[in-house]
Amino acid sequence: MVTPSSFTIRRVNQSSKFGKFTSFCSLRQSLLITLWLSLFIVLFIWQKNVFDGLLIFRTRGGIMEIPRLRPVVFNLTDFGGVGDGKTVNTKAFERAILEISKLKNGGGGGQLNVLDGYWLTAPFNLTSHMTLFLAQNAVILAIQDEKYWPLMPPLPSYGFGREHPGPRYGSLIHGQNLTDVTITGHNGTIDGQGKSWWDKFRQKRLNHTRGPLVQIMWSSDIRFSNITLQNSPFWTLHPYDCKNVFITNVTILAPVVGAPNTDGIDPDSCENMVIEDCYISTGDDGVAIKSGWDQYGINYAKPSTNILIKNVVIRSMVSAGVSIGSEMSGGVSNVRVENLHVWSSRRGVRIKTSLGRGGYVRNITYHNITFDTLRVGIVIKTDYNEHPDERYNHKAVPVIEDISFTGIYGHGVRVPVRINGSLEIPVKNVVFRDMSVGITYKKKHIFQCAFVHGRVIGSVFPSPCENLDRYDEQNQLIRRSAMHNITNIDYDF
Ligand SMILES: *[C@@H]1O[C@H](CO)[C@@H](O)[C@H](O)[C@H]1NC(C)=O
Ligand SMILES: *[C@@H]1O[C@H](CO)[C@@H](O)[C@H](O)[C@H]1NC(C)=O
Ligand SMILES: *[C@@H]1O[C@H](CO)[C@@H](O)[C@H](O)[C@H]1NC(C)=O
Ligand SMILES: *[C@@H]1O[C@H](CO)[C@@H](O)[C@H](O)[C@H]1NC(C)=O
Ligand SMILES: *[C@@H]1O[C@H](CO)[C@@H](O)[C@H](O)[C@H]1NC(C)=O
Ligand SMILES: *[C@@H]1O[C@H](CO)[C@@H](O)[C@H](O)[C@H]1NC(C)=O
Ligand SMILES: *[C@@H]1O[C@H](CO)[C@@H](O)[C@H](O)[C@H]1NC(C)=O
Ligand SMILES: *[C@@H]1O[C@H](CO)[C@@H](O)[C@H](O)[C@H]1NC(C)=O
Ligand SMILES: *[C@@H]1O[C@H](CO)[C@@H](O)[C@H](O)[C@H]1NC(C)=O
Ligand SMILES: *[C@@H]1O[C@H](CO)[C@@H](O)[C@H](O)[C@H]1NC(C)=O
Ligand SMILES: *[C@@H]1O[C@H](CO)[C@@H](O)[C@H](O)[C@H]1NC(C)=O
Repeated sequence: MVTPSSFTIRRVNQSSKFGKFTSFCSLRQSLLITLWLSLFIVLFIWQKNVFDGLLIFRTRGGIMEIPRLRPVVFNLTDFGGVGDGKTVNTKAFERAILEISKLKNGGGGGQLNVLDGYWLTAPFNLTSHMTLFLAQNAVILAIQDEKYWPLMPPLPSYGFGREHPGPRYGSLIHGQNLTDVTITGHNGTIDGQGKSWWDKFRQKRLNHTRGPLVQIMWSSDIRFSNITLQNSPFWTLHPYDCKNVFITNVTILAPVVGAPNTDGIDPDSCENMVIEDCYISTGDDGVAIKSGWDQYGINYAKPSTNILIKNVVIRSMVSAGVSIGSEMSGGVSNVRVENLHVWSSRRGVRIKTSLGRGGYVRNITYHNITFDTLRVGIVIKTDYNEHPDERYNHKAVPVIEDISFTGIYGHGVRVPVRINGSLEIPVKNVVFRDMSVGITYKKKHIFQCAFVHGRVIGSVFPSPCENLDRYDEQNQLIRRSAMHNITNIDYDF
């Protein structure tokens, strides 16, 4: 019979044997772990040195030296800036910009360099005759706490904060009534850290319209080049009632889903503007040309005109590559979109408006446009019924006319064309010339039209709607349409 004591003794013996075994094991294991750890640390330090060495080579090797673009040059660090990602640098930005504002204009202005590092800041205002230069690994980070974001009156042509009535948050980088301002660099980054704003917006925890990343108002001779703008809380780059705006070689990024209203560029009541060599992938429209909202936009009466968009690649999973509207009440005219590539997106190019907008969309030219995997290629929508308030004029009818599409290519498009005019808002003088778009479904009615007047010249695939007159390559009339008003809009696919 096994007594409790003998059982205990046996167990003690066993456990002590086992104990010796485990302590031997853990000794070997810890030795091995230590060895591996030291190996990793050595590797890590070696790699870091190689990486740093490369950086030093690139920054000090002459290639990445910051060019002198103005007679007077400052570094943000001269004003107490600290690029550690934690220190709030608003005062440093403000002091530097105040210093530049004191320079005599005739002297050519001042340049503020933001060197490699993470420069956290609250919103700040720019001044005239200045260049903000972002080094290659410079990242300006927007502070997330909305308490730091000043409130401003609604835009006069919107009469409304866009998402909430009353005031709206200003932008991270802001400017009013300026001239001769440049933001450029070695592809440094301005990061809006928008995620907290997008989440709060979705949870309806904000009381005011979110702020854009960069907004320049009532200004002229404004240039953006060689930089990256990312994760804006709201629209990314918003030039408002400006003249002579040049945007070249700018990358604009935000998550393609879950980043609401992060339009790339919103030319708004602007005259003479070029958007060239840009890459845009965001959570809303890539480019959205606007000019005010309903009665407020009609009263403000400032069109967007003379706008060239060229060599631009866009991805927009929820909206469109290039949009005009839906706020177009001040009018939009003389827009040329050339060499545009829209990929893996919901829509390619879109014009949207509704009754109550007034204004016009006129003389819009699309040239050499490529659609790569989209649901709808070309969209004109005339019932985009979103209004600032109920006081809009129902009789304010927008005009849509002189819209031409030349050289429309691509593949993987479900509905290449959907132009939905209406009895009140017919779409007039639309011209299609040379179009060949590979389609996903060989269904009828994928070139959809309603209340459209215009022409098709030469070879157009897929087969155009019956609403349009047909001409041959020599511009000879083949068949005049007798049914401009028929509707074959099929929204189901
Ligand atoms: C700005 O910083 C760069 C790099 O550290 C340095 O070479 C340059 O002298 C500084 N310029 C000014 C005006 O402080
Ligand atoms: C920038 O200027 C505007 C217009 O004067 C003002 O409303 C806003 O508060 C200023 N922003 C900051 C951060 O000072
Ligand atoms: C800029 O000009 C507009 C109108 O031209 C004016 O309403 C606004 O207050 C001015 N802003 C500043 C900061 O001076
Ligand atoms: C665009 O920006 C990149 C990165 O800064 C630069 O290397 C390239 O030369 C620029 N391209 C043009 C056309 O300016
Ligand atoms: C600039 O940097 C972004 C990411 O920060 C990158 O996606 C883009 O390709 C770069 N642009 C150029 C022109 O090198
Ligand atoms: C919005 O307003 C409510 C009620 O006044 C307030 O409790 C809340 O803190 C405000 N939210 C923000 C983000 O300002
Ligand atoms: C962009 O960067 C490239 C390469 O550094 C430079 O040659 C070009 O002049 C810059 N363009 C603009 C408009 O700043
Ligand atoms: C149409 O717009 C283009 C610029 O895109 C301009 O050159 C042309 O003069 C405009 N045509 C008319 C009739 O206004
Ligand atoms: C058309 O645009 C594409 C970019 O989307 C470009 O690669 C091509 O060179 C352009 N074609 C012409 C004839 O300019
Ligand atoms: C077709 O629509 C136009 C404009 O919307 C209108 O003026 C015209 O009377 C309509 N024609 C027919 C036959 O319904
Ligand atoms: C087309 O437009 C008409 C009138 O503007 C509207 O009633 C209809 O719902 C639209 N159809 C689609 C599919 O958007």
